[in-house]
Amino acid sequence: MDYPLNALGLSHQFMASHIQKGALCIDGTAGRGRDTLFLCNLVGPSGKVHAFDIQEEAVASTKSLLEQHNVTWADVHLENHCHIDRHFTPDTVDAIMFNFGWLPGGNHHVFSHGETSVKAIEKGLALLKPGGVMSLCIYYGRESGYEERDTLLAYLETIDQKRFSVLLGNFINRTNEPPMVVFIFKDRI
Ligand SMILES: C[S@@+](CC[C@H](N)C(=O)[O-])C[C@H]1O[C@@H](n2cnc3c(N)ncnc32)[C@H](O)[C@@H]1O
Repeated sequence: MDYPLNALGLSHQFMASHIQKGALCIDGTAGRGRDTLFLCNLVGPSGKVHAFDIQEEAVASTKSLLEQHNVTWADVHLENHCHIDRHFTPDTVDAIMFNFGWLPGGNHHVFSHGETSVKAIEKGLALLKPGGVMSLCIYYGRESGYEERDTLLAYLETIDQKRFSVLLGNFINRTNEPPMVVFIFKDRI
């Protein structure tokens, strides 16, 4: 499969190279459901995907997309991703995606914020299995400004290097504030 050379394409390629059939995955930002559907196709019917979003419009869009594709192995939660720890046991999740920002085609003034995004990442890291992975797409500029990007970058540098490796991808020669991608690997131990 060809993946576009941008933050989202790279995060999909990363997920595809780590996720096996039967895996347990989380989409922390369901939006229109495209990433949830992508994860569902990777894990197959023997796997499970849980998707979270704070907007009813996003939950409805995601459920509708999954129905159109006859996908029955996903649960879509109308819930802030900073509470994902309520649904899973630590060290059990194979992969987690966060594609921060606003709902595509939705209200540009409802978007993710640094404080809750950091909480969600922290909780997500505890939920990952040894050898599990997380990807982040970080958008910035325009209506959402720079607060979330700056908060996330400051936090990511502090993640314990003895247990995790954090890789940042930034298209430094592209104009118009291209989104950044982050890959996090939990050590196998
Ligand atoms: C860029 S979109 C995600 C795109 C989506 N993955 C897709 O495939 O269409 C970001 C989404 O994050 C959601 N969001 C923002 N803050 C959130 C939070 N604290 N918890 C859960 N979802 C949140 C927004 O409502 C929006 O739908």
